[in-house]
Amino acid sequence: MEILQTQGISLPRLGLGTYRMQGDVCRAAVESALALGYRHIDTAEMYANEDAIGAAIAASGVAREDLHVTTKVWNENLAPDAMRRAFDTSLRKLRLDQVDLYLVHWPAPNMNLPSIFETLMKLKQEGRTRAIGVANFNIALLKTVVEDIRAPIACNQIEYHVMLDQTKVKEYLDARSIPLVAYCPLAQGRAASDATLLAIGNKHGASAAQVALKWLLDQDGVAAIPKASRAESQKANLDALKVKLDDEDRKADRAGRSPARRRQPRAGHIPAHGAKDRLDAAVVVGLENGEGRGLIEVHEDPSARGQDGARGRGDRRGSNHLLLLVIIVLSRKGRYPERGRWSLGKASSRR
Ligand SMILES: NC(=O)c1ccc[n+]([C@@H]2O[C@H](COP(=O)([O-])OP(=O)(O)OC[C@H]3O[C@@H](n4cnc5c(N)ncnc54)[C@H](OP(=O)(O)O)[C@@H]3O)[C@@H](O)[C@H]2O)c1
Repeated sequence: MEILQTQGISLPRLGLGTYRMQGDVCRAAVESALALGYRHIDTAEMYANEDAIGAAIAASGVAREDLHVTTKVWNENLAPDAMRRAFDTSLRKLRLDQVDLYLVHWPAPNMNLPSIFETLMKLKQEGRTRAIGVANFNIALLKTVVEDIRAPIACNQIEYHVMLDQTKVKEYLDARSIPLVAYCPLAQGRAASDATLLAIGNKHGASAAQVALKWLLDQDGVAAIPKASRAESQKANLDALKVKLDDEDRKADRAGRSPARRRQPRAGHIPAHGAKDRLDAAVVVGLENGEGRGLIEVHEDPSARGQDGARGRGDRRGSNHLLLLVIIVLSRKGRYPERGRWSLGKASSRR
């Protein structure tokens, strides 16, 4: 497995995402992935599956030193005592003495970043996490963490895939040799049926999902954590590392995709899960479009709709709450959303 070296840890470039898998389903998926050769598992206290993952790891027989485990503290638990409690619970559920990477899962309004990183650094110094990092941080937040606090973050985990441009934040990370861990690397499964990616895959005897993953993994400093519950998909995703994309593929993709087919999320539109679930399912689009023009734009999780796509009263109430949140965030920033752009041609980084 290819790895990224970052802040003293070896991060396998392809990991298994586990969001929306719990209980026996999650345990079986992680056991299957470990048997297939995955050595990087991504979880979070918010996913409510750390116990299932702990059971799978214990049953797997994989040596602890051969395995990378990331977990995350939810943004309600960023005060020192709360973070320690959350961390202890995560370790206990995972049945581990130490995690490899502990991330701030999501920025919180008015969070005290120096205090957060003081607590994280203590956990690191105590040897309870080997490295620390962030998720869903825009450039402005990264600047505070990296340049002011000088915290040794091992990654920024953000949404990144072939349908979402993250050039600006990636440039910032590249310039500081901080890996980007791409979540939703398959655009929550949409990449698997994309006609352009299917056509490119046909040329190489690969699937559209494999093309999407290889597009990410061809970029320096990028790791990807596709979630797959089925063993066939897990194996196919591992095999994506062997796919070879060429320049023609990149040109073909650029030409083959019209702006109308790019993702056009609607600001303030949210899925209908509970509050935590909603925030994680919500996708922060173009988290940083450059020059400090950050945005939080949330789009609907299609899985939250009824079969007919209708939205119930509870859904609308949830939408209103998050719409309010988005408006508050944007008004605090005094900024307006811009949509991300993408092209396969922007694949390579400068590092
Ligand atoms: N830090 C954060 O805030 C944050 C936010 C979101 C996600 N994440 C992490 O990132 C992980 C991945 O994101 P995600 O789960 O939202 O989306 P994703 O990995 O982009 O897509 C997952 C979907 O793709 C399907 N799939 C997987 N491999 C496939 C293949 N080879 N062919 C066809 N379909 C395939 C899966 O199906 P099956 O499951 O049915 O196999 C599932 O429906 C999460 O699980 C989580 O660990 C982090």
